[in-house]
Formats: sequence, structure tokens, C-alpha cells
Amino acid sequence: MGCIHVLLFVAIFHIAVPVFAWKQYRIRRSIDLSASNPLIPDAKLPSDLVPVNYTLRIKLNAEQLSFSGAVNITMACTKRTNQINLHAHNNLQIDEVNLDVIQHLDDGETSLVKIRRVDRVPKKPLLVVYLQDDLTANGLYEARIHFKGMIWENTEGLFQGKYKQVNSDDMQQDRSYFATYFRPHHARRVFPCFDEPAYKVPFLVTIIRPKGYHTLFNTEAETTATVDDRYELDSFKITPPISTFALGFVVSELTLIQYDSDHTNVNPTVRIWAREEFHESLKDAETKIRSILAHLTNVWNVSYPLDKLDVVALPNFASVKPADNWGLVAFKENELLQGYYGITQELVYQWLGSWITPHWWSDAHVNKAVAGFLSASTAIELDNGAEFEGKWPMTILYSIYYEFSKRYPHSRITAMKQETTCSKTELVLRMLNYTLGEKTFRNGLREFIKHRKYKTFASNDIWEALTKQAHLDNRLCESATVNEIAGSWISKDRIPVVKVVRNYDKRTANVTQRLYLRERPHDVPEQDKMLWWIPLIVVSQDNLNFTNTSATKWMKNVREVTLEDLPNSNSLIIVNPEEIGPFPVNYDERNWNLLANYLLTSEGRTKVPVYTRAKLLHDAWNLAYAGDLSFATAFNMTLFMQHERNHLVWNPIFTLIDHIGRHIDMSKVHKKFEIYVRTLLTPLYEELVSHQQEKEAKWKINLRSLAKSFLCKAGYKPCIEEAQAVYKTWMNSSEPDLGNPVANQYICPVFKWGMMEEWEFGLQRVINFPESRLQSERTYLLKTLAGCPIQTSKINRLLNITVLEDNSNFTDNDISLIFKMLSGGSNGYMALFQFLKQNWEAIKLRFKGQEALWDNLINSATGLFTTQEGYDMVSQLYVQRQGEFGTAEHIIEKSLKNIKEETKWSDENLPVIEEWLDNFLKQYKPSNEKFIE
Ligand SMILES: *[C@@H]1O[C@H](CO)[C@@H](O)[C@H](O)[C@H]1NC(C)=O
Ligand SMILES: *[C@@H]1O[C@H](CO)[C@@H](O)[C@H](O)[C@H]1NC(C)=O
Ligand SMILES: *[C@@H]1O[C@H](CO)[C@@H](O)[C@H](O)[C@H]1NC(C)=O
Ligand SMILES: *[C@@H]1O[C@H](CO)[C@@H](O)[C@H](O)[C@H]1NC(C)=O
Ligand SMILES: *[C@@H]1O[C@H](CO)[C@@H](O)[C@H](O)[C@H]1NC(C)=O
Ligand SMILES: *[C@@H]1O[C@H](CO)[C@@H](O)[C@H](O)[C@H]1NC(C)=O
Repeated sequence: MGCIHVLLFVAIFHIAVPVFAWKQYRIRRSIDLSASNPLIPDAKLPSDLVPVNYTLRIKLNAEQLSFSGAVNITMACTKRTNQINLHAHNNLQIDEVNLDVIQHLDDGETSLVKIRRVDRVPKKPLLVVYLQDDLTANGLYEARIHFKGMIWENTEGLFQGKYKQVNSDDMQQDRSYFATYFRPHHARRVFPCFDEPAYKVPFLVTIIRPKGYHTLFNTEAETTATVDDRYELDSFKITPPISTFALGFVVSELTLIQYDSDHTNVNPTVRIWAREEFHESLKDAETKIRSILAHLTNVWNVSYPLDKLDVVALPNFASVKPADNWGLVAFKENELLQGYYGITQELVYQWLGSWITPHWWSDAHVNKAVAGFLSASTAIELDNGAEFEGKWPMTILYSIYYEFSKRYPHSRITAMKQETTCSKTELVLRMLNYTLGEKTFRNGLREFIKHRKYKTFASNDIWEALTKQAHLDNRLCESATVNEIAGSWISKDRIPVVKVVRNYDKRTANVTQRLYLRERPHDVPEQDKMLWWIPLIVVSQDNLNFTNTSATKWMKNVREVTLEDLPNSNSLIIVNPEEIGPFPVNYDERNWNLLANYLLTSEGRTKVPVYTRAKLLHDAWNLAYAGDLSFATAFNMTLFMQHERNHLVWNPIFTLIDHIGRHIDMSKVHKKFEIYVRTLLTPLYEELVSHQQEKEAKWKINLRSLAKSFLCKAGYKPCIEEAQAVYKTWMNSSEPDLGNPVANQYICPVFKWGMMEEWEFGLQRVINFPESRLQSERTYLLKTLAGCPIQTSKINRLLNITVLEDNSNFTDNDISLIFKMLSGGSNGYMALFQFLKQNWEAIKLRFKGQEALWDNLINSATGLFTTQEGYDMVSQLYVQRQGEFGTAEHIIEKSLKNIKEETKWSDENLPVIEEWLDNFLKQYKPSNEKFIE
């Protein structure tokens, strides 16, 4: 270890970046520009002038909540220009008069450059200095700028945070701290700079702070001097080349936690800072952080790139993400109490992020994906999977399956697009890790990082390094590259579905790929042009070996391939086991049934691993939902659940019950479906109850409570009686409006199955809800009052009061919420539709001039029907009230279109579902004594 640190030390002292190095600054393109950060809209600065280093001085004026400072930016001119462009936030005041630009001459002398004028660009965070004469290429210049700004409370730039500390007299005292958050582009709020990740140069920094505080910075303080009787100045060691976003400091009175373990001679120095009362909670933090550092050092095969790491538990830190400054990471206090994953992510950035940096923000999502993937595998290794309980990568995988199979993915929120694109890249990395092999994958990453210290990378660089390694290790044929593979997955917000049709005589299978669409109709344009590089990993019944994860064959961007040498016609095959690639797989009916029958045997359930069992189930019913597989086959795949006890396999079932249940809510099949649900869930739930223990794993508690709430919804008597008993204590209380003694889980069952009287009591609590209480409790009550009941009379009463009687206790927002909740189930939207029809004139009058509410009502009352009967009702209203819909005209038209589509689905699938359920119920003859009918 020592060796590498000596090298690093040397490197720091040779950082005078030669001017010519910057001539190579070039625009680099990556395959994933689609993911460029919408939060960073401003264009790049011109590259004819680039920074060489900064000298920065900042003074905190703690009382005024302001700061002032000066910066000297040495810059190299790469191309003749007459202006200097710098980032400077509009809130940053620049002293335009006292601003100098000088030229460094070869003989060590300097000369003043004449300034024509200094401009702030309106609405853009830019400072432009226009010069009398041109700066010449290869010249070395320096801008000397003074500035001032405010310290805010929100975590962008330099901010103040507050907390309370108990002093020696047991009195609570207010304390504050000052810290920075510069990611991704907030350094410009504190000083003018080239605020782009690719500019990595050394910073020589001094910070003036009030006495009594101390300052943590990226590097160690070298000297401290007194400024006056209230302020002191710390001068820090010059930083290695660093991007502006990775710069940071914390000025506080937090104290260093002392650990018994002696690490005085161990590199790096790790120090953990917190308020005094929190020290005890962090007693394990050092060991944890050191074990993560050791693990990552091993992954990268490179030691931690700095000689110190300060970790700060910032009290009341409001930022969504920790401040991952290089060598100084600030977390929310409770983030340091959780498992390994979150902390690891920030520590990965110390290597990949700060030391080696994404060239532009479009490359940052690959960085994030690598961090996510490494953090998950690190966490799983360090705590044996305790933190995730096996949920990684299932949670991100399922959300990607749902989002990317919509007709219009990300149609609502662009910020989510960032997240999902990043998650998908994480899954692509996981796929590569399996198919190229862990060793090749790891060596590829090591090669990638090896020659890049202090430099930047584009995402293609990672794929290139992996390609090289894969070719070297013979894990990928020469004609293929990881760039192409990754590109086919990342460049589109879509995923494929693979269909495997076996030819049982020839022992072959015809494998085809196409765009995966779950939402109907499947009329997405250009889908014929979409193709992916897909690894086909095949496991067959005669050799159920799930450890070999290399691809039997790649679908190289082609629509169709043939698999050969498959087992005989009585043996099943599984393609893409363990969700190695993020895509669902469909089979011919015979193979599905082989799978279903095998899983019904105890051999099948032990030999097929958990993720694969979950995948088979999840794929089957989603494909059925999409119209690509018979529901009878999909339901066949659920039969083994009677014996299944693993929560990861159960998770997809709950989603299935919810989605299918909602869809067939209106038809008579629903009753039978509920009985099927009970038959499936009752044994699981009763076993979980009888085996209940004091201390249990989280997954067990969750599984029990999920099973219970679904059973409760299906009318499970023990649950409803328990809920009513608890609810009674509230009804008997003498002052029911002071607070609600009933846990949320009990309320819905009472409103759904309980008496009008119980529901009415809830309604009165909303009407009499005191201002002083938490309004979210009122909202919850209102939501359940509207969303849970199945009796029309309850819903009518609510609509009478809120809409017709115009009760002043209910706001427009409340009414909107009620409509939205009613659209959640057929009882709700049916009642709403009838209410609309019967009170048309009165409602129109009531909502006159309130277009949003009116539109909302029409949408909720007409949009959710799924059958011909519903279509007829809605179209009758449409005809009857033609021309009276106003702004909602297009809404009801859209509703009619949707209902038509859904009706087609119902016509195709309901008879199949019903027939299967009839057979099932005949065979299983469930007992109903414990259920309300
Ligand atoms: C900045 O770069 C210039 C030119 O190479 C050099 O003279 C100066 O010492 C450097 N300053 C710092 C703080 O590194
Ligand atoms: C910038 O350079 C000038 C001249 O050398 C010096 O007086 C001043 O202190 C420097 N500013 C900073 C922030 O170091
Ligand atoms: C494979 O399946 C596709 C789609 O079902 C079909 O068009 C194609 O002809 C089949 N190819 C072979 C060789 O059977
Ligand atoms: C499964 O395959 C792996 C890798 O191909 C091999 O090392 C292992 O021995 C196999 N296990 C069994 C039980 O066949
Ligand atoms: C469902 O399973 C039963 C029993 O194995 C089988 O007879 C039936 O053909 C299966 N249905 C479908 C559509 O796969
Ligand atoms: C709602 O109001 C209508 C008309 O005022 C009335 O006929 C109906 O009984 C009321 N329904 C309920 C449940 O209060």
C-alpha cells in the first residue's frame, strides 16, 4: 500500500498541467446521449480557454449569513479569443471594477491585459469578460476576481444547517454548521469557475471561519492562523486535479469520534465526525467503512486514491443524496446507521467519480450505474444479503418491466427517466457480469480505471475496456463488442421479449425477439426496427445446472435464431434463468406446462432457484396480461404457490392479484377470482401466523402483512372482526376528535365490510377534524372513506355532501381526491357514473367555471369501464348529453376508445379465466366458512 501512496504524493507535486494537454480537449460522444441530464440545460463553455489551477479564498460571515472571497484562476489559451467565459450564478455578486486579467510571460514577468467590459448574461449563469486585445493561443493568463454571496438554507452551493445540542448544564443550545453541496453544478453559486466535470485541475484553498468552529475540506489543513479576535484562517494542502463538483467543505462544531481500534498507521486516515449525542450510535461506523474501503480496493485493485477520508454525520441535512466531495463525504445522520449499500455507493464515487470522472453529465449515469452495481454486490458480500433480503435486483427489474412496456414510457415524469435509464444500465452491467464471467468483468473494470487517474471518461470507454478483456479471455467472439451489446440496450427506452417455440421432434427451438409491450394496444410505431443483442442462457431438465451463466448463443441484433441439441420432449427448458438479462421469455404451451408440472413436484421446487421460480411466474402472468399467452397457462403456473413459502416468489403474485382483480372487478368472474385468491393465500397466512416469533426478519413481517391485507380485502372474517373490534375503541372514546387510536391497516376493512354506522362515524371525524392535528391523517381517512366501500349508499352519501350540498368542510382538493379514489374500483366508478347521470344539471351548475374538477369527474366516472355493458352505458350518456361536456368532450371520447380496447381484452380473456377458475374450484372445493360473502 505504501508504495502507491508515495506515487500519489509525487503525482500531486507535478500537477502543473502542461498547456498542450488541453489541446486534446475534445467533444466525446457516448452511446447514451439520450440520457443527458435535463437538469443541466446550459451549453458548455467555449473550450478556447481552459483552467490550469485555482487559488481560492473564502470568508464566512456567519452572523450575516453571507460569504466573500477571491479567486485567481490560471488559464491556458488554446485558441485565439477576446473573451473569458466563466460560470457564475446570478445570486453571486461579482466585483466588476476590481477585476484583473494578467498574462504570465515566459520570463516569469506578468503584464496586465486591458478589459473592455464585464458582462453578466441575463438569465444565464455566466460571467463574460471582454478584452481589448485578443488572448493568444498557448498564452498563460490569470483572472483575479472578488465576489460575495449569501448563505442559504437549501442545500445548493454553500448552506447553513441547524441542530440542537445539550450542553453541560443539560440545556438545549442551538448550533449551526456551514457546508457545501456542489454536485452537479452548484460551485458557480460560490465562486466564478469553469463549472464542468471535465475540467480537473488543482485548487489551493484557504477558508476563514469563526473561532470555535473547525473546517473540513477535501485535503488536510496545513496551517491555521488568527485573522482577528473572531476569525481564523485555515490553509489547506493543494488538491490533486479535481472537478468543481467534487470540491467541498464543512465548517462546524461537530466532534471527532474516538475509536478503540488503533488505525494510526493505516492508510487512509478515516475520521468520523458527529454531534456528541450521536457518537454512541456510530460506534460501528468505522469498522463498516473500513471494510467497505478494503472491499472496493480489492475490486479496483487500486488503493483509495487519497490519504484521508472524512465522513460527517450532518444533523438535519436535507439533501436527497449525500455530499460526496472527494475525501470528505457528508451523510444524513441516519444514512450512516443503515446497511452497506448507501455508504458503499458514496465510497465508489471516491474512485469512479472524483478520481476518474465522467466527461460530461451524459456519461454520469453510467458512473451511477457502476456505483449501484458495485454497491449492491459489495453489500451482498459483506452482510450475506441481509440488507436486501434478496430484493436486489428484483425491485428495479420489475419497475423497468412495467415502465418500458408501456406504450409511452416516461410519459409523465422526466426525472424518473433518469432513474430508470440508470437502473437499466445497472441491469445491463449485471447481465455482462454473468455472461462475460465475473473475472473478465472485474478485470475489464480494473483495466478501465488503471490508466485514467485524474482523467475523464465517456461511457464508451467502459464498454471498450470490457470488450478488450472479453476478447482476451475468449468470452466474446471477435466480431462482437460490448459497445454494441450495451448500446442496443441503453440507446432505447424499451426492452425486448423473447419467444421460444420448441420443435420437439427435431430437438430444436425457434427463438424470436421483439419489442415487449404490456399495455394494449400494441401499435407502437417503428417497433419492427428495434432489435437487441440478447444472450440466450439455456438450462434444461436433464442438466439443471444454474451456475453456468454464459450464453449458449447470442441473438446478435437479429430477429430470429435456432437453438439446437435441446432435450427430449418430456424435458423442460428454461431460457434466461435468474433474470440474467432484463427481458421476459415466452414459450410454447407444452414447455409452459412442463414447467408448471415440474414446479408442482418437490424436486422442482428445490432444484429451480428462487429468482427463476419468481421469473417464470412473473413472466407468465404478465405475458397473459399483455395478450401474448393464454390465461389458462398463466394460472397453471400459479398452482405451485400452494407450496411456495419464499417471499420473493410471492411478490409477483400480489401484483397479479391487484392488477387482474382490478381488471375483472366488474364482471361476475370476480367473485370466483376472489375465492381462488383465498385458496392460494389462506394456507400461507395461517402458517405465518402460527409460526410467528418475537424477533423476525423484515421479509417475514412484510409477507404476513401483505397476505393479511389481501385476504382481508377478499373478506377473511378473522381479519375483519379484529379490525371492527379495534375500531370500536375509537367509536367508544369520549373525545374521538382528539386523535385516532386505530392503526391505518384496520380502517379500510371496516369501511369496506363494516356497517353504515361505522362508516358514518369516520365521515364525522373528517368533518370535525381539528386544525391543530396532522392534516395527513385527515387525508388518509378521506381517501379510505371514498376508496374502500363496496356499498353504493356510502358512496352516494359522500357525493351528496361534498358535491351537491357543497359542504364547506370539503375543499376542491378533497373532491378531486374523492373522484380519484372512486376510480380505483368498479363499485366506486359505477356509483360515480350513476351519480353523474342522475344529477347532471345540478353538478354542471356546481362545477361551472371549475374546469379541472369537471374534467376530473368525467375522467373518473367514465374512463375505467372494461366491458361492453360499460361501453353501452358511457356511450348512451355521451349521446344523451352531446355538446354539454364542455372541456371534457375529448375526455369522454378518449374514455370510449379505451373502454373499447379493454372490452376486447375482456371478451378474449374473461371466458378463459372463468373456465379455468371453474375447474380449479371444482378440484379444490375451498371452504368458505371463514369468509364474508
Ligand atoms: C498555477 O499554474 C501556474 C502556471 O503553471 C503556476 O505558476 C502556479 O504556481 C500554479 N499555482 C498553483 C496554486 O498551483
Ligand atoms: C491572487 O493573486 C494576487 C497577486 O499575486 C494576490 O495578491 C492575491 O492574494 C491572490 N488571490 C488569492 C485568492 O490567492
Ligand atoms: C420462427 O418463428 C417465427 C415467428 O413465429 C416465424 O415467422 C418463422 O418462420 C419461424 N422460423 C422457423 C425456422 O421455423
Ligand atoms: C455446473 O456447471 C459448472 C460450470 O460449468 C460446473 O463447474 C459444475 O460442476 C456443474 N455442477 C453440476 C452439479 O453439474
Ligand atoms: C393447465 O394444466 C392442466 C393440467 O396440467 C392441463 O391439462 C391444461 O392443458 C393446462 N392448460 C393450458 C392452457 O396450458
Ligand atoms: C343523496 O341525495 C339525493 C337527492 O338529494 C337523495 O335522494 C338520496 O337519498 C341521497 N342519498 C344518500 C345516501 O344520502
